[in-house]
Amino acid sequence: MSSLKVALLGLGTVGKGVYESIIQTHEKKLTEAVGKKVEIVGVLVKDHQKERGIKKDILVTTDVNQILKLPHVDIVFEAIVGIEPANTYIRQFLEKGSHVISANKQLLAYKGKELAEVANKYNRFLTFEAAVAGGIPLLRTIIQLLQVNGITKLEGILNGTSNYILSKMRTEQSNFNEVLKEAQDLGYAEADPSSDVLGTDAFYKLMILSNLIYQKQPNWENVNKVGVNEVSQADILIGERLGFRLKLVATLQKKEQDVLAEVRPVFVSNEHPLYNVEGVDNGIVLNTDLVGTLLLQGPGAGSLATASAMIEDLVYISQKGTPNIQTPRFSYNSLVEGKEEPSIW
Ligand code: NAP
Ligand code: HSE
Repeated sequence: MSSLKVALLGLGTVGKGVYESIIQTHEKKLTEAVGKKVEIVGVLVKDHQKERGIKKDILVTTDVNQILKLPHVDIVFEAIVGIEPANTYIRQFLEKGSHVISANKQLLAYKGKELAEVANKYNRFLTFEAAVAGGIPLLRTIIQLLQVNGITKLEGILNGTSNYILSKMRTEQSNFNEVLKEAQDLGYAEADPSSDVLGTDAFYKLMILSNLIYQKQPNWENVNKVGVNEVSQADILIGERLGFRLKLVATLQKKEQDVLAEVRPVFVSNEHPLYNVEGVDNGIVLNTDLVGTLLLQGPGAGSLATASAMIEDLVYISQKGTPNIQTPRFSYNSLVEGKEEPSIW
């Protein structure tokens, strides 16, 4: 049986989840879905000294050129941290003919449109289901919905770490720093957790959603961004006594030609769809003009939830083969503004 050759850039919380799912837990299911064995041929890391515990015949390197030099890599998973060098690496792999699956929201918020253009130029897929709302198949659902519906407003809990902290501060009266440490130990938080608690991570995800839904982003300076870092136990408990829960809510809506966006802690009543979205879960409320209001909810962070979204992208790409620039009208690559017939990532 021929194999689908993949490389992993990053073997941290996310990369390890992808590795284990491909090699161990989901190997059989994946072979059936893809029609070939998925073979990991290379892994890029930063620190060669760390013990990895992965198969001996897989190339593990700190030099991306070693992976770029491999004769053929069908799909690359990018799960490293920050804009560079990930941006450069993704471009290099797309140019070389690999499809790319990324979980890197910061990079995609900043460079998503440019990278989608590169993917279109080389007729490759660039997909990033894992970059927004962890394991929830949110981007796929939005692309599907947009073929029939207009999305008038989105309200979402988009950061699992913040929601975990707020939930534990309420239910167990835990101390902010202790719960943050727990979220880090569980693999929910970013390498630099200030991105989680200052609302920046939710903001990046909102900007990716803005590109996808409205084909543009608001001016970042006009977006009010407040995190959970200044929330006190007293705020949470007083809210609870009055029947409210505090949630870090990201909002996106179009007003005439402008896109309005905001991230901030909000008290929600028990009638609000986000009230029961607890722990590491994310929840996204989509107000649409045909189906009405939808709530999507599920694990928003963590190794296996994120791996699930990335591997769904792998199956999607392997089943599609190459991007088809004729259909569908709305796709991940509609990030490329004004492009009439975008290809799919
Ligand atoms: P992590 O645990 O810190 O792992 C990062 C991995 O990337 C490590 O293996 C590290 O190598 C490698 N790396 C970092 N910089 C590198 C560089 N310059 N060159 C080569 N390798 C490099 O982070 P993570 O939680 O897996 O997150 C990875 C990405 O996924 C981030 O962009 C994050 O925002 C995103 N994400 C995370 C989650 C989550 O729940 N954690 C969910 C969705 C998306 P070493 O092992 O040698 O240090
Ligand atoms: N740190 C992120 C979160 C990971 O807590 O939501 C998932 O994107």
